[in-house]
Amino acid sequence: MSRRGGAPLLRTVGLVRTYGRGDLAVQALRGIDLEIDHGEYVAIMGASGGGKSSLMNVLGCLDRPTSGRYEIDGRDVATLDDDELATLRNRTIGFVFQSFNLLPRTSALENVELPLLYGDTPRAEQRPRAMEALARVGLAGREWSTPSQLSGGQQQRVAIARALVGRPSLLLADEPTGNLDTTTSDEIMDVLDGLHREGMTIVLVTHEPDVAWRAERIVVLRDGLVASDQRRPPGAVPPGSAPAAEAAPEPSR
Ligand SMILES: Nc1ncnc2c1ncn2[C@@H]1O[C@H](COP(=O)(O)OP(=O)(O)OP(=O)(O)O)[C@@H](O)[C@H]1O
Ligand SMILES: [Mg+2]
Repeated sequence: MSRRGGAPLLRTVGLVRTYGRGDLAVQALRGIDLEIDHGEYVAIMGASGGGKSSLMNVLGCLDRPTSGRYEIDGRDVATLDDDELATLRNRTIGFVFQSFNLLPRTSALENVELPLLYGDTPRAEQRPRAMEALARVGLAGREWSTPSQLSGGQQQRVAIARALVGRPSLLLADEPTGNLDTTTSDEIMDVLDGLHREGMTIVLVTHEPDVAWRAERIVVLRDGLVASDQRRPPGAVPPGSAPAAEAAPEPSR
């Protein structure tokens, strides 16, 4: 049951993903039970090979689980046919990858418009929607630049705009700042924080504690299982940061 009542946005029950067969089989996910509610901001962490990308790919409906159950808004994803799955992917989920995955010789605007070509957005609305998504990530004026004319951070903004253009309720991002320097990474995280404040549910994978700290909840995966799942208390300060002024002891006279 979700905190606002009704089904949570995402629910996995005993989710297993095995790659390959027989002696060569790799169990990337070994029974993940996870619920994520509408409006949550969740960071997924854990050592390399722990199953983070495997989980994200299932959550994003880019991959199907080997066994176990995955529900979106209470609907079992396994019961959907390919068309229904494509519609769900288009309307509900935006996916951002570490490597941006933009078409190279194609303008930012056309990259962002792309997902709309396969949906039911009327032709006349596609360009304005893509312009709006680019403006939302701070790229108004760069519509006609191609990826090679943009910085890494700007390319990731285009990728975020492309993920947003279908107006999804869920944004999944697998190491969105993994290829970026610290300053650029902070800018991308500011964009994601803003989307979360506007009500978007965000699930991101990161290796960086200060990126994870932006989220309200940190789920750690280890060897294909949830090793810990903790909510950050409101108002808590990141470890190692200066204590808040009001919390500092009164100077003695
Ligand atoms: N397509 C695949 N075929 C076979 N094995 C795979 C495949 N994808 C992932 N694996 C294996 O599944 C396990 C989990 O991989 P996964 O990519 O989910 O880890 P991760 O937590 O995302 O790691 P990283 O932090 O390095 O990105 C690893 O042992 C990996 O080698
Ligand atoms: Mg990964």
